[in-house]
Amino acid sequence: MKVIVTENYDEMSKKAAEVIAEVIKADENAVLGLATGTTPIGLYKELIDKCAKKEISFKNIKTVNLDEYVGLPKGHVQSYDYFMKDNLFNHVDIDLANTNLPNGIAADLDAECARYTALLNKMRQSIQLLGIGSNGHIGFNEPKTPFDSTTHIVNLTESTIKDNSRLFDDISEVPTKAITMGIANIMNAKKILVVANGENKAKAVYNMVKGPVTEDCPASVLQKHEDVIVIVDKKAAALL
Ligand code: PGA
Repeated sequence: MKVIVTENYDEMSKKAAEVIAEVIKADENAVLGLATGTTPIGLYKELIDKCAKKEISFKNIKTVNLDEYVGLPKGHVQSYDYFMKDNLFNHVDIDLANTNLPNGIAADLDAECARYTALLNKMRQSIQLLGIGSNGHIGFNEPKTPFDSTTHIVNLTESTIKDNSRLFDDISEVPTKAITMGIANIMNAKKILVVANGENKAKAVYNMVKGPVTEDCPASVLQKHEDVIVIVDKKAAALL
């Protein structure tokens, strides 16, 4: 695990965007595993900027996202589909037909989980971008999720519903379920990039990098992957 500590969020975003840009430059057909959340917004802005300057192109790039809420109508402003369009896809030269998210409104959610895992096995991420939850979750894989899990439906924990309610008008509108890549699907990526900032992530970052490898901290599994880059600001690195 390579750990890079930056002065602040902006530097974290710039360095992380450089890592993704290198993957794109090395392979114009690369498969990017992407993430939502507040942490990657800055690095997506950097990628948009690099694309505008013609340093990189998404023309032949394919993407697979980590997760999606279950039950939000298509186009809902809090859906991860909307987030990706709003924060990246609508601002770069990507073909939307090459972008993939789990379908949280599929009639048969078990079949959708199997479809998404089959897709991931076929496409295999050149790089998977991850944020980390303050409890060490990756995607919506909460503590105790088996390391061999594949795409599955999760009941969101009360703390995650509370965390996410800041983005909804009312907590009652926050979905209670999500569909997420499993930990085995994440570990199958050729390269993994984790970004985190702020002191509320310091304990999770410590557990990911230096703690025991345990399902109590899903991100600790990354110690077993051969090509992981962790880019964190100094507040998130405070306990390392
Ligand atoms: P955040 O979420 O980027 O909004 O902090 C990260 C995560 O929970 O994976």
